[in-house]
Amino acid sequence: MNRPIIALDFGTMAEVQQFLDKFEEPLFVKVGMELYLQNGPNIIREIRAMGHDIFLDLKLHDIPNTVGRAMEGLGRLDVQMTNVHAQGGTPMMKRAAESFKDHNPDGTLIAVTQLTSTSEEMMQSEQKSSLTLDESVIHYAQLAKDAGLDGVVSSPLESALIHEACGTGFLTVTPGIRLTEDSTDDQSRVVTPSKAHHLGSDYIVVGRPVTQADDPVARYAQIKEQWESGEE
Ligand code: C5P
Repeated sequence: MNRPIIALDFGTMAEVQQFLDKFEEPLFVKVGMELYLQNGPNIIREIRAMGHDIFLDLKLHDIPNTVGRAMEGLGRLDVQMTNVHAQGGTPMMKRAAESFKDHNPDGTLIAVTQLTSTSEEMMQSEQKSSLTLDESVIHYAQLAKDAGLDGVVSSPLESALIHEACGTGFLTVTPGIRLTEDSTDDQSRVVTPSKAHHLGSDYIVVGRPVTQADDPVARYAQIKEQWESGEE
């Protein structure tokens, strides 16, 4: 069972350090744009030196050559997982996969299909699409698979649909996780770690329920236990 991925949505290395110092075991953490763009690649080297694995969530989206060159750099940076926008197109995704894996053959490259901030109505009017949101997510997941990517970021509620269309080996990395007692914050469709287990998610991504907890270590253990056992 893959460890829960903890979203380090902090602005500074000092905050990251203070948080990670509480843990005695190596974690799988997510570094997003907020942290990376304010601190640069050194933040990755520092977190790796502390023994943690990293999902670098930069959602790259540009022409194939530019994304390919950027992915060479990320491959060398020794991150275990990173991502691109599937809407950047098949040539971009193919180039990203080749470049990343040339430098990091064991690394995992996933795609974002539709952002969760995109509603079906917005997608249909702005992208001039006649598909439903689910159909569009599946369409982009299939393109990502055909381009050689390993999986997609999705809602746990979409995991089964994605596995049905793309096979069970195609990974679903799913945020929007809350324990029953948690506030939902700004997430609208949330599920518990145990529900995500039963829905077939391959990885769960958890931020505030752990980072803002009074006792992050205990809360992480509770989430990990539910995720692994599938029991509430
Ligand atoms: O704090 P919370 O558990 O809501 O954090 C979830 C993390 O997953 C955040 O870093 C957020 O940006 C990210 N994410 C998300 N929904 C997506 C993609 C990424 O919540 N569709």
